[in-house]
Amino acid sequence: MSGAAPTAIAPRLLEDALGRRLHYLRLSLTERCNFRCVYCLPEGSEAAAGADPLTLPEIRRLVRAFADLGFWKVRLTGGEPTVRRDVAEIVRAVRETPGVRKVGLTTNGYRLHALAADLRDAGLSSINVSLDSLEPERFRAVTGNARPERVVAGIEAALAARIPVVKVNVVLLRGLDEPEVLRFLEWTRAVPLRIRFIELMETGDNRDFFARARLEAGAVRRILEARGWSQLARTRLDGPAVEYGHPDHAGLVGIISAYDEGFCETCNRLRVTSRGALRTCLFGDEEVPLRDVLQSDADREALVERVRAAVARKPASHLLQLGRCGTTRHLAATGG
Ligand code: 5AD
Ligand code: SF4
Repeated sequence: MSGAAPTAIAPRLLEDALGRRLHYLRLSLTERCNFRCVYCLPEGSEAAAGADPLTLPEIRRLVRAFADLGFWKVRLTGGEPTVRRDVAEIVRAVRETPGVRKVGLTTNGYRLHALAADLRDAGLSSINVSLDSLEPERFRAVTGNARPERVVAGIEAALAARIPVVKVNVVLLRGLDEPEVLRFLEWTRAVPLRIRFIELMETGDNRDFFARARLEAGAVRRILEARGWSQLARTRLDGPAVEYGHPDHAGLVGIISAYDEGFCETCNRLRVTSRGALRTCLFGDEEVPLRDVLQSDADREALVERVRAAVARKPASHLLQLGRCGTTRHLAATGG
């Protein structure tokens, strides 16, 4: 374990049947999104998607119960979490929950320019901003309409506001060529950005697009290796990214491939949908409703027990290699 390992709380960590220690909650704040990414919500989010997300009091109870189970890291996702007006308030409430040490947010960056300082003041520890292309035409084709400059401005605002960790997520799509990869890498030379190239994952709704547009991670790995980047040692607290560093760059680069063998072996997370259903696997079939036990502080023990029982059934692995993605129609439902 690295020096940052939370050894003091290790004995409390929840383990699944395979001995994987779970400490990381990903909570979707809404299924709504203001983008229409081709691989996610090409038609935009459905009208019903915004209905009835967890309220702030429900989120407080949920996160308290997870903290009771030893969860110390929470990421807020969507959909697009910043379409909620109370996003900074939620960050603060999660951050103030005893036991929670890190609160992250995953966003498309569209409102980040205006929100970065408030998020930082609310105690946000890290932010992941999706930006699949720096080329205006390609970016528009991926997102439906957006301009990359606006997202870049949001990322710069996050750095200027000193949100401690700023990451850029780039989904690997055919057409991402070497000059563009090099532009992303160049961005990390002077600023401590972390760029993560993510292999496209197949979901129920994107099968045709996936077959056409998937770009394998090897393409980026080869560019990194040819340019003097080297793979960093992994610690057991690491997420799924294989990270690379370069002596002349302040930032880091990561590659995330859900199709890699062993991807699920280090899984440390659980997910809760915006309507309060627990999903033990991103590509699983099972949803365990929690909302009925989020209505009163008196149900804290029942909530903890329900999570514990579900964890015993956490699948060993997704079956993406076989083209099976469970009931996951798109990642906006579960926050990627
Ligand atoms: N495959 C890979 N990444 C995806 N994302 C959304 N859908 C997919 C998919 N099918 C990414 C978003 C964002 C992160 C939360 O997940 O672009 O960066
Ligand atoms: Fe919205 Fe993210 Fe899905 Fe794009 S990938 S449509 S930004 S939820």
